[in-house]
Amino acid sequence: MRVGKNERMDFSDIAGDIEEELFSPEDIAGIVARLAAEVEADYEGRDVLLVGVLKGAATFMTDLARQLGRHVELDWMAVSSYGAGTQSSGVVRILKDLDTDVTGRHVLIAEDIIDSGLTLSWLRENLESRGAASVEICALLRKPEALKVQVDARYVGADIPNRFVVGYGLDYAERYRNLRGIGVLAPHVYS
Ligand code: PRP
Repeated sequence: MRVGKNERMDFSDIAGDIEEELFSPEDIAGIVARLAAEVEADYEGRDVLLVGVLKGAATFMTDLARQLGRHVELDWMAVSSYGAGTQSSGVVRILKDLDTDVTGRHVLIAEDIIDSGLTLSWLRENLESRGAASVEICALLRKPEALKVQVDARYVGADIPNRFVVGYGLDYAERYRNLRGIGVLAPHVYS
């Protein structure tokens, strides 16, 4: 087992790729525990279906679920948004749908990050149109400066500046998702 610094933001493969650590694994654990406590209090007596959008949300959602001291169901969607290059257009195609019928269910979407807000705004509307009893959003991170549409997220872990962040599920070209912390990617990696 790796120990110490190498296990965190700086394993040798990525030395120099992370310009600044924003959240350590301990910071993240604290944020997730706080969000879980809020969710637990709000949903007392109601069944919850956690919905995660692959792939970025997987790490956060499974940690959130493990912090909840109650039964929850977990289900997943995979979506792809149409757009020019990296710019999301808000038009979303479902690549993998839920296995669960959400009619009458209390759905809590767990998302790693709200960037433009386009994915979540579409997803909330989509799930509401299927007859969910309620649809709320729990996002670990939000970039207020990047928002293109208003997304009313009931639970937000932290607001961050509009920088390229990776780790804890968030990727660049499918890499860095397995970092235990979250940090800003150094521009030399993507420019
Ligand atoms: C990221 C993230 C959100 C979405 C947020 O997913 O996980 O789903 O972008 O962006 P938005 O607010 O601008 O819509 P991405 O499309 O990078 O796929 P991934 O989850 O597989 O990394």
